[in-house]
Amino acid sequence: MKIALVGATGNVAGRALEKLVQAGARTVALVRHPEKLPESLRSRVQVEQGSLEDGAFVARATRAADALLWLTPTTFDARDFRAHTLDLARNAARALQENTIQRVVFVSSHGADRSGLGHVSFAGEVEQVLEAAAPHTVVLRSAGFMENLFTSVEALKHGQLFTLLPPDKKYPLVATRDVGDVAARWLLDSTWTGHHVRGVHGAEDLSAHDLAGILERVLGTPMRCQQVPPEAIRDAFLKRGMSPSVADAYAGMFKAFAQKDYRPTEPRTPETTTPTTFESFVRERLAPRLR
Ligand SMILES: NC(=O)c1ccc[n+]([C@@H]2O[C@H](COP(=O)([O-])OP(=O)(O)OC[C@H]3O[C@@H](n4cnc5c(N)ncnc54)[C@H](OP(=O)(O)O)[C@@H]3O)[C@@H](O)[C@H]2O)c1
Repeated sequence: MKIALVGATGNVAGRALEKLVQAGARTVALVRHPEKLPESLRSRVQVEQGSLEDGAFVARATRAADALLWLTPTTFDARDFRAHTLDLARNAARALQENTIQRVVFVSSHGADRSGLGHVSFAGEVEQVLEAAAPHTVVLRSAGFMENLFTSVEALKHGQLFTLLPPDKKYPLVATRDVGDVAARWLLDSTWTGHHVRGVHGAEDLSAHDLAGILERVLGTPMRCQQVPPEAIRDAFLKRGMSPSVADAYAGMFKAFAQKDYRPTEPRTPETTTPTTFESFVRERLAPRLR
């Protein structure tokens, strides 16, 4: 069995690749920058260099693959974020059909089944493109990533946790390694058939106040939780270098997630609950960046 992965120099697919190699699977990684792959993996993986924007490259690089791990890389400068996302998905669909790839695992998000949630809704459209192009698919409707906090290291060093969501409302939160592990399990299994949707929810639902409490306890410093008003979100994203289309998509997602009655469609179950706690993430991954 040969498994193709995109995004393998990133968080989720990087972890999945590590697991697949450990399991002895034949893998091909579609990457723009092979030097970013860990040296320990580089010689054990077929590396194909190119961009997902190049449909011919995606089709060529996935030849003879039995399964594909697909995700939509975030592109901050996309002029039309939805069109860009769907262009990439169509490149995946072309490769799936030309190479008759049987199985696809797609890293999606909770909320992807609804409209009006910016790029999360675009992920829902990608789900449909992939489901139409391959006989067996699973979409992993993931919780928000703990790693998102890496963009807030400077504020955290100053004892401030900014949140775009209501600070007392609990949301699922997952470490990307858990998502990578779930993806690897699906990719290594060649017995499942049909189209599946799975939540990936981390160890527990937490509010921003819960996060601040855990950060205080683990880091041993005070942490003040502060909500960023919704009207400031779009401007903050533009200042971070996002195109207006990408900023609108992110702002739309946060506004929808912040609604009082918003809940992921997929309920938390023992199957969607994954092992890494926020406390262990802070100890092992975040705290070293705050020193
Ligand atoms: N953040 C969240 O809370 C959250 C929640 C649910 C779902 N998701 C989804 O999870 C997915 C995976 O996230 P992640 O954290 O693993 O992503 P990541 O760490 O940002 O990795 C993205 C990867 O895509 C590669 N890439 C970017 N543009 C590319 C292109 N044009 N051609 C080929 N490769 C390209 C990057 O490689 P180089 O830049 O090195 O080339 C990198 O390896 C995303 O699609 C996101 O939508 C995120």
